[in-house]
Amino acid sequence: MAILQTTELAIQFGGLRAVDNFNISINEHELVGLIGPNGAGKTTIFNMLTGVYRPTEGDIKLDGVSIVGKKPYEIVKQGAARTFQNIRLFKNLSVIDNIKIAYHNEMKYSTLEGIFRTKRYWKEEKKAHQESLDFLKIFDMQDYANTLAKNLPYGKQRKLEIARGLATNPKILMLDEPAAGMNPQETYELMDTIHFIRDKFNITILLIEHDMNLVMGICERIVVVDHGKIIAKGLPEEIKNNPDVIKVYLGE
Ligand SMILES: Nc1ncnc2c1ncn2[C@@H]1O[C@H](COP(=O)(O)OP(=O)(O)OP(=O)(O)O)[C@@H](O)[C@H]1O
Ligand SMILES: [Mg+2]
Repeated sequence: MAILQTTELAIQFGGLRAVDNFNISINEHELVGLIGPNGAGKTTIFNMLTGVYRPTEGDIKLDGVSIVGKKPYEIVKQGAARTFQNIRLFKNLSVIDNIKIAYHNEMKYSTLEGIFRTKRYWKEEKKAHQESLDFLKIFDMQDYANTLAKNLPYGKQRKLEIARGLATNPKILMLDEPAAGMNPQETYELMDTIHFIRDKFNITILLIEHDMNLVMGICERIVVVDHGKIIAKGLPEEIKNNPDVIKVYLGE
């Protein structure tokens, strides 16, 4: 069953049709790459999928339910989490608090209980703390729990953003160039982590990546966009040998 499906998705900014006739169907547990040159429309697609932009045309179904017109936080609740091309963290909060905020949706106490600090509040709070620590362990970041997000090395900020997305308990996780700005060693480790979390949390992943070689190594299926349109879809081997794709990448 498709966890994410778009039909004839399109968005127009003034005279620019940034994305046009975008059709994809991603099944549960798949790891799909979305690639294309600068300005191809990749981030705009994510912005539509997560409610940041409202599409001018077409439909998006998340686990069978249309999400067009919903607010970003509603879409998160429905099971889609993302990271941003330019990292977005609560920079002045600790690493563990960044994770806990993502848990907030799930906590079972009312605002009043929070204010009066009831027994239930502390119980939920302790549980959230422990689960947040467990998340950090998966990313080997438990030693940074009390570090302010802004003081983390760049690669670890990227990892924290992914961990925070996962903490919302998504069905699908969308990563916008997670390896941007990382060195080759960090990139290699990150790709390993992405595979690992896909299996551990049994989720679906849609990954935007600029570097074609990188995406070839980790994705099972690839969608290539250029000038807002899909120019190829298929297995990494097929994509690598597709003349249209080669032209777009060599022409850059
Ligand atoms: N809010 C907006 N208003 C007007 N134009 C926009 C807006 N958002 C995106 N665009 C345009 O849409 C096109 C696609 O941009 P987008 O950021 O989606 O590309 P991208 O594939 O993510 O590129 P990159 O690899 O550089 O991140 C660009 O021409 C961009 O200028
Ligand atoms: Mg982008």
